[in-house]
Amino acid sequence: MGGCGGLASLSIGHLTSLASLRLVDLPDLCFIEGLSFLQLHSVYLKDVPKLKAKCISQFRVQKSLSVSSPVILNHMLSAKGFTVPEFLNLINCKEPSVSFEESANFSSLRYLSLYNSEMRSLPINLKCLSSLTKLGIYGCPNISSLPDLPSSLQHICVRRCERLKESCQTPDGESWPKIASIRCKEIE
Ligand SMILES: *[C@@H]1O[C@H](CO)[C@@H](O)[C@H](O)[C@H]1NC(C)=O
Ligand SMILES: *[C@@H]1O[C@H](CO)[C@@H](O)[C@H](O)[C@H]1NC(C)=O
Repeated sequence: MGGCGGLASLSIGHLTSLASLRLVDLPDLCFIEGLSFLQLHSVYLKDVPKLKAKCISQFRVQKSLSVSSPVILNHMLSAKGFTVPEFLNLINCKEPSVSFEESANFSSLRYLSLYNSEMRSLPINLKCLSSLTKLGIYGCPNISSLPDLPSSLQHICVRRCERLKESCQTPDGESWPKIASIRCKEIE
């Protein structure tokens, strides 16, 4: 669903086969009823600024979560019983910096991607994502260096990030030591 100004609540608990939920540009959406009955495979939330924390904490996501707001993300991460899915994507994030709620269970998270975001730095606590194998950073022109990365990382991909690309160059780039030992690097 997308682009419905004025829509304040949504009732989906009766859609028991629902696997994928995509909500985009719903400026007035506050409540989603029935979330606690659903086990969603994938969830995509972009520009749903008024969604209540109580609803956000009811999401259960099995495979893939995409969000534009770090506030929403951290409400989910700190909810009791929430397990971070295998794929986590930050999309069109406007905040200058983001950090992950460290109390969350990240043991299933293997792929983290950031798309078209304005942040100036990556989450400083990326190192706590102890199962992460692939990190992708796409279209984030304001990021200029990498933080410490988890030792589980096997693949890093950087595209359309001019400053970060420069920082990742061998042998003198500031971030090169952080990625030198990563097996697969795609820096374009
Ligand atoms: C990111 O960079 C653009 C272009 O340089 C700038 O307009 C924008 O304000 C920056 N965003 C942040 C959050 O720093
Ligand atoms: C974290 O989640 C995994 C399953 O994804 C589970 O096996 C493990 O017990 C959880 N750890 C904690 C501390 O809850």
